[in-house]
Amino acid sequence: MADSEILLTRRLVDEAMAALDGTCEVDLYEGPPTAIPRSELLRRVKGKDGLLTLLTEKVDAELLDAAGPQLKVVANYAVGVDNIDIPECTRRGILVTNTPDVLTEATADLAWALILSCVRRVAEGDRFLRSREEWIWDPRMMLGQELYGRTIGIVGCGRIGQATARRALGFGMRVIYHNSRPLPEDVAGELKAELRTFDQLVAESDVISVHCPLTPATRHLFNADVFARMKSSAVLVNTARGPVVDEKALADAVRAGEIFGAGLDVFEREPIVEEALLDLDAVTIVPHLGSATVQTRAAMGLLAVENLLDGLAGTRPRALLNP
Ligand code: DGY
Repeated sequence: MADSEILLTRRLVDEAMAALDGTCEVDLYEGPPTAIPRSELLRRVKGKDGLLTLLTEKVDAELLDAAGPQLKVVANYAVGVDNIDIPECTRRGILVTNTPDVLTEATADLAWALILSCVRRVAEGDRFLRSREEWIWDPRMMLGQELYGRTIGIVGCGRIGQATARRALGFGMRVIYHNSRPLPEDVAGELKAELRTFDQLVAESDVISVHCPLTPATRHLFNADVFARMKSSAVLVNTARGPVVDEKALADAVRAGEIFGAGLDVFEREPIVEEALLDLDAVTIVPHLGSATVQTRAAMGLLAVENLLDGLAGTRPRALLNP
């Protein structure tokens, strides 16, 4: 394995870099703070045995062709793998892995940071004070929405959706969810979660938290028609993938008062943020921070490296995704 060569498309946290040290030959891309340009990626994958990729790298037939037939494993430093053509990798016998579980709690925490910011206007209040405008405590000032006794709708109730739902119980909320399949009875029981159709969830929820993967079926799942059917007091929070939400339609809906606000960790054309969202006080935006804690980014790195090294060694990686 020491003579294996891998491409790492961005420097990882120190723990992960240390785990890689001395295990194989590492070609590390350390360009400006942008994703590795496609032409550079296509050039540098040539002859590599393994790729340690981030969600910004598209792994498709063109890239696999450029890499060559010796490529054994693509280890994604993310749980989401919409950047990887898994069927194409499988057809070529290339292992694909991701980093599930280790980021579940951190991402659910961030979903709640956004929920709270939206319903209680935290980011807006912070910006207001920094503007140095005069103010006085006022019974009508910056009124938000109550959470206790209200309903959260979880769209995509996998690991992160469930962890987000679990936190909702602590806020005294009722949990409804929409998922490709019903939750096992014990999980639904623990979360007191009730299954809804997508349309029912949209109409009933005071908070909607998005946790589904990005697929052709979920692209623009949240669009103008859906916003028009949400409660005008409701907020939408997305910590999954940007293109699940039509950002222009979201900006229009918030501006028109069709919904109370939104919290976004992910963006349709990341890292670009839709201009129309930037001036809306009712929208809280953060730069894809779901898994960004010291502990989680280290755990993701260690798991990604473990997956990669197992794949290179011909051992079944812990987080293997190929069917
Ligand atoms: C993921 O893992 O898919 C997140 O978006 C980044 O941590």
